[in-house]
Amino acid sequence: MAAAGTAPRRSASSAFVSVAIVLAVVVTCSLFPPSSSAEAAACSSHTFSGNGGHLYASCADLPRLGATLHYNYTAATNTVAVAFRAPQAKGGGEDGWVAWGINPSGRAGMVGTQAVVAFRRSNGTLVAYPTVLDSYTPSMAPAAPEDLAFPVSGVAAEHVDGKGMVVYATVALPAAKGSKFTHVWQQGSAVVNDVPAAHPTTGDNVLSTATIDFSE
Ligand SMILES: *[C@@H]1O[C@H](CO)[C@@H](O)[C@H](O)[C@H]1NC(C)=O
Ligand SMILES: *[C@@H]1O[C@H](CO)[C@@H](O)[C@H](O)[C@H]1NC(C)=O
Repeated sequence: MAAAGTAPRRSASSAFVSVAIVLAVVVTCSLFPPSSSAEAAACSSHTFSGNGGHLYASCADLPRLGATLHYNYTAATNTVAVAFRAPQAKGGGEDGWVAWGINPSGRAGMVGTQAVVAFRRSNGTLVAYPTVLDSYTPSMAPAAPEDLAFPVSGVAAEHVDGKGMVVYATVALPAAKGSKFTHVWQQGSAVVNDVPAAHPTTGDNVLSTATIDFSE
């Protein structure tokens, strides 16, 4: 376990206040129009080498942070397989993190969101796992299966040279909620002691939420 000597490379201070404040701000987001399906999506040019090179039936250019979401929705089981891709945060090089999640409450914010997060550990290994954003100060720790409000499987990460990070996951959507959900996404430039650190609390980082109908 090589988590020990992670030398902080940036003058920390205000930036790292805590994951708390960080993700917290995502909360106040107003609603943004989902990216129009009529547009020729830039996402349609993306291909994936991870996850067995699977193709996805649909994709959306998300309205903030240059992120995209590819997805395959299976109505019969109300599950969706996703590939979330986001550029590395500015200044983070390859040391940042990306996350995507669903807030089953429908609130356009972070608290209550069940997310998948991906980053590079201090020992160089890429890691991705589900995590529960249960407060404005989430631990960002891996969630045990019994802590998940709805099951998430097949979580994996891929680094795309110069283009950021991809997180793969298959989500069993909450029953009786249909196919339309509020989703939330995020990127941060730092991981400290193998824990994703606070993202900026201004600009796109607090506006990165939308609604999505996976059946469209
Ligand atoms: C990196 O650390 C993780 C968590 O401790 C461990 O599971 C993984 O095997 C390590 N990888 C390498 C290449 O040492
Ligand atoms: C998405 O659905 C298509 C068509 O059914 C299938 O070929 C592909 O493997 C699926 N991709 C994933 C990631 O499940």
